Amino acid sequence: MKKKILTGDRPTGQLHLGHYVGSLQNRIKLQSSYDQYILVADLQALTDHFAHPEKVSQNIIEIAKDYLSVGIDPEQTTILIQSQIPEIAELTVYYLNLVTLGRLRRNPTIKYEMQQKGYNEAIPAGFFCYPVSQAADITLFQAELVPVGEDQLPMIEQTNEIVRRFNRLYHTETLKECKAVLSKTARLVGIDGKSKSSKSLGNAIALADPPEVIKQKVFQMYTDPDHIKASDPGRVEGNVVFAYLDAFHPDLEILADLKAHYRRGGLGDVVIKNMLNDRLQLLLAPIRAKRDSLDAKMVKEILHQGTVKAAQLAKETIKMVREAMGIQSF
Ligand code: TRP
Repeated sequence: MKKKILTGDRPTGQLHLGHYVGSLQNRIKLQSSYDQYILVADLQALTDHFAHPEKVSQNIIEIAKDYLSVGIDPEQTTILIQSQIPEIAELTVYYLNLVTLGRLRRNPTIKYEMQQKGYNEAIPAGFFCYPVSQAADITLFQAELVPVGEDQLPMIEQTNEIVRRFNRLYHTETLKECKAVLSKTARLVGIDGKSKSSKSLGNAIALADPPEVIKQKVFQMYTDPDHIKASDPGRVEGNVVFAYLDAFHPDLEILADLKAHYRRGGLGDVVIKNMLNDRLQLLLAPIRAKRDSLDAKMVKEILHQGTVKAAQLAKETIKMVREAMGIQSF
């Protein structure tokens, strides 16, 4: 039997190049050798969008289109909608007993997001506890691998702590520990060079961006502020264009020559930006074309089929969990 993979995204906006190099490429690569599940995490998205649930539901089809257009194959990968699997909520309730407030507070991702959103004591409990519900996502589908970006590592760690605690407490081996699958570029910087590429910060190139928007964003990229004339020596480190060339240019030798030339001086920003633009246009054109060919009805049917299949596995796991805990079922 193939090992299982589970991963997912919040449907709050378009997927972008950060998702592509951080996780989507791994999902595409792994789907033929594993039993892969991708969760459209609409419940998790509600933890910070509860005032605008329509924004979440509108994005479900969009995110599924992103998956299909990059090459996620519904014959090999099960795409499901989180809110349609009630066992996730049930498992979350059990797990909440196995986690302390102190431990949640120390979760680095939660810490960072709390700071970003300016929550103090007014943090919604649902948001604070989303790592627990993420542990339920992963373990309900018995996943052993989780292809994600670097920012999700604390979630994997938290999941494995819950797994060990559960198994020890109830003298069972019901739950499986999981491992993150990180990519070569686990974190893609935003076009502003300030932080990671993020839809909420508006510094990302979306997979569905039209050609002129891609070009415009490439030409906005932060380079080296001291590289004023083309003849000046330039810095490669911290230069967003080179960070993207590292992630998207396939030829290491050409790239090494380019960097040396830039450092020496004599290579203008316009030249490297044009190069990057060409690469990105080449990468994104077929993805955009595939996206345009997808019709919403077909995508809904794929989500429906995937969710029905996932529900079966969810039922099997929750039955084992209830048995391990000695919870009565009628
Ligand atoms: N937290 C992930 C994100 O913000 C989304 C997610 C929800 C997820 N459940 C998951 C990722 C389970 C991996 C596994 O992108």
